[in-house]
Amino acid sequence: MASPSVVESPSANARRVVHCGDAITWLREQKVLAGASVITSLPDVSELGGLDIASWTSWFEAAAELTIASTPDDGVTIFFQSDIRHAGLWIDKGAMVARAAERAGASLLFHKIVCRKSPGTLTIGRASYSHLIGFSRDVRPSLRRTTADVIADAGFMPGQKSMGVNACIDACRFILNETTTRTVVDPFCGFGTVLAVANSLGLDAIGVDLSAKMCRRARNLEIGA
Ligand SMILES: C[S@@+](CC[C@H](N)C(=O)[O-])C[C@H]1O[C@@H](n2cnc3c(N)ncnc32)[C@H](O)[C@@H]1O
Repeated sequence: MASPSVVESPSANARRVVHCGDAITWLREQKVLAGASVITSLPDVSELGGLDIASWTSWFEAAAELTIASTPDDGVTIFFQSDIRHAGLWIDKGAMVARAAERAGASLLFHKIVCRKSPGTLTIGRASYSHLIGFSRDVRPSLRRTTADVIADAGFMPGQKSMGVNACIDACRFILNETTTRTVVDPFCGFGTVLAVANSLGLDAIGVDLSAKMCRRARNLEIGA
């Protein structure tokens, strides 16, 4: 998996590689991420400077579809996304990734609600919950291993738009229990929360981010799960 700028952080048991560049280009180059599952949070409109809401919506759904299409049939794609309010209307990112999954031929495995703030907290622009939503073409989870569909506390978040550590643990455990994939890819890795949690649970991790600063953070973040 070649990339213009690769940072490797070998750890005792699990490997981490962070590629600095555009995730869309990188995913297209990989074609299929053999042996891997994906956990990611696609960037919000506020993170793609200059795009209007309609352009961002098209970009987001195309990026979600490409991410799911790049995940192998025996892997899962898990999104952690927080709804936003724009011009008085809610934008449901859970529905957006669900539309992308349908186009990519993947089925819904779970749809959890993760509380980023205590239930009852009033918010203005960004919901107090996030969707943790998983899709696959071939994986069918065991009914004997049902897990909670509400995660009451997202856990530590290294940055404002980061994925909570408890949500990362839940997603990584799903991959460990329900798939044979042992590498986690986060194509929009930000602080590297997913990568650090995956490594702490013994999974190899590959991250991509456009920002060199985020790539440095993602290389260095350590979290004990
Ligand atoms: C929602 S944040 C990810 C947060 C991350 N899950 C965490 O726990 O910190 C989205 C990230 O996508 C990155 N990004 C935006 N556009 C990108 C692109 N085209 N390719 C790769 N990364 C991109 C941003 O720099 C940002 O770090």
